[in-house]
Amino acid sequence: MISGKNRNYGSLAGAAVAILLATMTIANAEDGYRLWLRYDQLPRQALIRYRPNIAQIVVAGNSPTLDAIRSELVSGCSGLVGGPVPVGNEASHDGAIIAGTPKSSPLIKNLRWESQLSQLGPEGFRIRSVKLGTHSVTVIASDGEIGALYGAFHFLRLMQTLQPINNLDVTQKPRIQLRMLDHWDNLDGSIERGYAGRSLWHWSALPSTIDPRLRDYARANASIGINGSLLNNVNADAQILTADYLRKVAVIASVFRPYGVRVFLSARFSAPIELGGLKTADPLDAEVATWWKKKADEIFEFIPDLGGFVVKANSEGQPGPRTYNRTHVDGANMLAAAMAPHNGLVIWRAFVYDMKPGYDRAGAAYENLQPFDGKFAANVLLQVKNGPIDFQPREPFHPLFGAMPKTQLMPEFQITQEYLGFSNHLVFLASMWREVLDSDTYAKGPGSTVTKVADGSLYSQRLTGIAGVANTGSDRNWTGHHFLQANWYAFGRLAWNPDLSSRQIAEEWIKMTFTRDPQATGTIARIMLESHQALVDYMTPLGLHHLMWGGHHYGPAPWWDTFERDDWNPVYYHRADERGLGFDRTETGSNTLSQYHRPVRDGFENPATCPEEFLLWFHHVPWAHRMKSGRIMWDELALHYQRGVDWIRSTRKEWNALAGVVDPERHEQVAKKLAIQERDAIWWRDAVLLYFQTFSKRPLPAGVEKPAKTLPEYKAKSLAW
Ligand code: GCU
Repeated sequence: MISGKNRNYGSLAGAAVAILLATMTIANAEDGYRLWLRYDQLPRQALIRYRPNIAQIVVAGNSPTLDAIRSELVSGCSGLVGGPVPVGNEASHDGAIIAGTPKSSPLIKNLRWESQLSQLGPEGFRIRSVKLGTHSVTVIASDGEIGALYGAFHFLRLMQTLQPINNLDVTQKPRIQLRMLDHWDNLDGSIERGYAGRSLWHWSALPSTIDPRLRDYARANASIGINGSLLNNVNADAQILTADYLRKVAVIASVFRPYGVRVFLSARFSAPIELGGLKTADPLDAEVATWWKKKADEIFEFIPDLGGFVVKANSEGQPGPRTYNRTHVDGANMLAAAMAPHNGLVIWRAFVYDMKPGYDRAGAAYENLQPFDGKFAANVLLQVKNGPIDFQPREPFHPLFGAMPKTQLMPEFQITQEYLGFSNHLVFLASMWREVLDSDTYAKGPGSTVTKVADGSLYSQRLTGIAGVANTGSDRNWTGHHFLQANWYAFGRLAWNPDLSSRQIAEEWIKMTFTRDPQATGTIARIMLESHQALVDYMTPLGLHHLMWGGHHYGPAPWWDTFERDDWNPVYYHRADERGLGFDRTETGSNTLSQYHRPVRDGFENPATCPEEFLLWFHHVPWAHRMKSGRIMWDELALHYQRGVDWIRSTRKEWNALAGVVDPERHEQVAKKLAIQERDAIWWRDAVLLYFQTFSKRPLPAGVEKPAKTLPEYKAKSLAW
């Protein structure tokens, strides 16, 4: 920024230049705001290649979405090729780009692609290089305007990632229908488990004042195919369903609509009591059902295309049908009946666990919900977290996947890093999600992957969906850490195509966001692809889980045992004693392993065949248990922690060496976060090993550094966090 302190411009003209310069500096500030939609001029060689194909933009017709397509292509193409690209009504040049639908564009209609386009659906698209009369042009077409918008973003991505655009023949459609971001935003502007500032929705300013950022949010989502946004916390406040709030929600929905993002609301199950003054929220009570029907009618008056409700019921203190001795199905289907006349959905969360003496929380969702397979109404989806506990750094896949063939399941991932170092730790979550999606449930024999459950192909599921708990907030860079934008990006890309590789997603994102330098791209991609395993190494290796400090979940506190609920205490999960470490979930223990199909179950059951990354998840293992490496478990565990620390140290060096390749502003900000990550990795290693050492009574193996502090010091440190 220009500082005016020692300057005297002396004239109005000078002042004007100063303002212009200042504005330009702001416009080019590398603050991360532009995400992966940067559109800066491409390298010279790419320009020479692309220019003949980027001569004109033709988007016929007018509608909010067509206008969005036009403006995206104009700003994208002119930015990337470094000069204005004319807009026309007719394709009068070689190199015209024609985008739209057969309805909006006579040129596209004349191509007679209707039948192919209708097979791709309103969100699918076709991009082809064709001859139109005498001109060579590129056509981006879809049956629906949103599909054409997705196609436009795809086309821009090809250029942003330096791929050929001269001989295109691309057809794509999303594999999963509902691709949602779930915001756990409270009405007071705070965000549950949010680490990137405050909520993006300014409830008190709405409906009269609309933050322009809402549009940028919707645009970013559209660029990666996200088509749903749950606005409020699943620990819901019933107020969101009042007319006052619905008026505000309607405005948000109208900003999102041109970008194909539909709004969802979390419904508090007891709203009939809180808002309607009823004595009960019993789902089988006629008055309650009528209240919800009327409420649904009112909501759809305000927001005719609302996606539906998301419901967290009878979980962590939330009200629900069980409060009235009714079942989850009674509750979900009652709400579904209210939504059905409006084509609304009910997304019922499977994150349900009741504290019973001696029970295993990992088995609770299955026990609570699996018996209801086939009983949910046609417009209900059951949203299942990726693993059976709660968004841990690594969990085996949730046993409900593949266990409810007659129920519409949708996976729920957590993009925000509640248990993974908040917005301080660089971790690329595509690798973790890939592990889950690639997991084979064996529900219908080999190849019955979680991907096939999610995309509906395993059981011909009619409605499909996937949700990610958002990591966005009011921070200028959206996600608090520049690299964590990649997780928002990755979620959208995987929701669109759950077969994409983590490497492809990482490389796309790096090229669109940081650098196209092949060597630097390679280094950054490697860092990203290694980052999840590294984080697991320094937090919870070998299947350990939930060792985090209670409440805020940042930093290690394996000694924690003071919560009134056992299953909120780390000691419940690791079960360390003088004999060994880990949770026995086999027949000799909780036997929740039996919730998995054979042969998955058989593989996990035997410590000799159990993948070591899940060993302590399923078994209580003696400290001297021989691992595949030949080392004993205690030594192996300690070396994992050390490996995690070593990784972040070498990553910091590699990142420092990238100075000059990446802009100084973002380089420095990332470097600062990496320093925190190293501090935390050491904290994790030392605190966890010192604590477990009180049981193992063994020395740290060669290669593991001496702890920086003592156990009492680490315990005190956590308290002071
Ligand atoms: C976790 C998280 C809660 C959240 C819950 C949920 O337990 O800590 O803040 O409400 O998940 O998914 O409902």
